[in-house]
Amino acid sequence: MTKKDIFSLARKEILKLIPYKSARDDFSSDQKKMIMMDANENPFENDLNRYPDPMQNKLKKRIAESKKVNLDEIYLGNGSDDIINQLIIAFCRPNIDSILICPPTFGMYEVHANLNLIKSLKVPLSLQFNLEEESIFSSIQKNTKIIFIPNPNNPTGNSFSDLKIQKIIDNFSGIVAIDEAYSEFYEGDSFVPLISKYKNLVVIQTFSKGQGLAGARLGMCFANKYIIEILNKIKAPYNINSLTVDAALKKLDKQDIVYQQVREIIEEKNRLLNEIKNVKFIKKIYKSDANFFMIKVDNGDKRYQQLLNLGIVVRNTSKYHNCKNTLRITVGKKDENNALISAFSKMDLK
Ligand SMILES: Cc1ncc(COP(=O)(O)O)c(C=O)c1O
Repeated sequence: MTKKDIFSLARKEILKLIPYKSARDDFSSDQKKMIMMDANENPFENDLNRYPDPMQNKLKKRIAESKKVNLDEIYLGNGSDDIINQLIIAFCRPNIDSILICPPTFGMYEVHANLNLIKSLKVPLSLQFNLEEESIFSSIQKNTKIIFIPNPNNPTGNSFSDLKIQKIIDNFSGIVAIDEAYSEFYEGDSFVPLISKYKNLVVIQTFSKGQGLAGARLGMCFANKYIIEILNKIKAPYNINSLTVDAALKKLDKQDIVYQQVREIIEEKNRLLNEIKNVKFIKKIYKSDANFFMIKVDNGDKRYQQLLNLGIVVRNTSKYHNCKNTLRITVGKKDENNALISAFSKMDLK
């Protein structure tokens, strides 16, 4: 795929758009050296009196080093949710184009599609929650622009075969967005290194899960520079705030702590899975490559309510496609997991 191919996928009106040029676009790193009288800020210093760098270059440099990509292959958003929305805005024409999703899947793809008047084509996963690539190929329409694939998948927790995903990227002329929200917990390979090979590949990651910064709202998008150029055209001028940038930079300095926590969460997941395997009302525990797992129970609504009554909130996923009577459980800290185990044993008697 060439630059021309990618630009021809994008909405024409967006390519023509002249982005708002913010005051800090030209002089963001010179704030300390120059007298800044261009952005109507309050000149009295506190840590937040100046607008942030519109392009987040300092943070992107750090991310570029750690992910081994170029600076111009990164776009940052207000959580991955924002990135999903921006991708849809950039590539999908309202009331004309479609995205393709594979239920049960993360709900926000369809929400953002709906908000932007974009149809969501649905190609369900198999009963074992695998991708059905042949059905995907036969369902793609002329105006299908983006296929969203969370890997590992939410809510089921399993990951998909790399070969199947690559086959989809190889055979689709639109954008394939691999959403790696749970990458820290997943022992398989990330698709980030493949953005140089596949020009239609977008990889989304987040600081919300393993990195422990859900409150900061920071999502990362990795793709070839032409896709990033298009996303940069439509972003809000100062789309990532200074507090978030600082929190992320600090976090990137402490990856040893993050990975220690990730290891602990994975150990706790394995302990939990082992402890609950003999609970009678649990009919199935699904394999998980993330920091949560899905279980099938005798009665999803009843067990969800019982857990609530015992002060434990899980996600009732029973309404998701092919997920009748399922609950999705996020792994907590040791004492929280112990509380869940003891709640399950109390519930097993009722
Ligand atoms: C697959 C997937 N993608 C994206 C997100 C949203 O992440 P963020 O907090 O970065 O918006 C989630 C959150 O649950 C998710 O499960």
